[in-house]
Amino acid sequence: MSAEQHVSSVDGAGDGPTDGLFDRLQEAVAAIRGSLQAAGRDDRPQAALILGSGLGPYAETFEDRFAIDYQDIPHFPVSSVEGHVGRLVFGRVGETQCVTMQGRVHFYEGYDLAKVTLPLRVMLLLGADKVVVTNAAGGLGKDLEVGDLVLIRDHLNLFGASPLRGPNDDRLGPRFPDMTYAYDAALRRLAEEAAASCDIGLKHGIYAGLFGPAYETPAEIEMLRRLGADLVGMSTVPEVIVANHMGAKVLGISCVTNLAAGSMDEALCHDEVTDVAQRVRGTFEQLLSTILRRFSD
Ligand code: HPA
Repeated sequence: MSAEQHVSSVDGAGDGPTDGLFDRLQEAVAAIRGSLQAAGRDDRPQAALILGSGLGPYAETFEDRFAIDYQDIPHFPVSSVEGHVGRLVFGRVGETQCVTMQGRVHFYEGYDLAKVTLPLRVMLLLGADKVVVTNAAGGLGKDLEVGDLVLIRDHLNLFGASPLRGPNDDRLGPRFPDMTYAYDAALRRLAEEAAASCDIGLKHGIYAGLFGPAYETPAEIEMLRRLGADLVGMSTVPEVIVANHMGAKVLGISCVTNLAAGSMDEALCHDEVTDVAQRVRGTFEQLLSTILRRFSD
């Protein structure tokens, strides 16, 4: 069967951001498999991790670690920010085989969402059927406090865009994927049990994803509150759409790094976000490790 027969497209839309995506993914996967084999490895990751602000160093705690630079993987977006690490890291947490991205690009840097989510698709094609996505978020739910860890139970896509825009390739997933169970209930239960087992508090919330990079105005936060959001951030939603498109189960956890704009009579600053992310990092990493270990139980 030719590639075209898998692709639902319309005349004139063949140059959309997803056009040729399947072939690009195959090339990236082949290069990664080649690097793994050359190192005498045959990793079949069970879990793909997306590490939010400040959590990147978690990859260095993997046992039996192996990293591949994005430069050595065809079609991987390399961040324009100088000095940024960009590598795919394999390893184990307990008995669970993991893969994660150290460094990533964002929509607000100018990449389209199909490109932003390409590394996740590659991690899933390498074998991962679970995705754990973490992020820093502003808190606007009335029970939320700075430093809280919050299990995402649903989201609002306010990017005004989708990573699936463009021709659909049925080999990757359906044209119209279901999002009713976007955040898997069984994984949420597992995360709650893991949190309880190490005495870490875990709240629940709905995450509103906006493209940024400006933080929200107080009026926008009030709008999001009325829409039912508890958390606001500039990531996660595109990855969760792609994971669902490819049939993977998703667990999402936010760290509340600040109360959303207008909650207090003061300006938001990025330093506050990174400071709090740093402060909570130890607890967040302990929770992540406990969860990931349980994937192999
Ligand atoms: N808004 C959007 N993104 C964020 C915030 C916020 O308040 N905090 C951390 N990421």
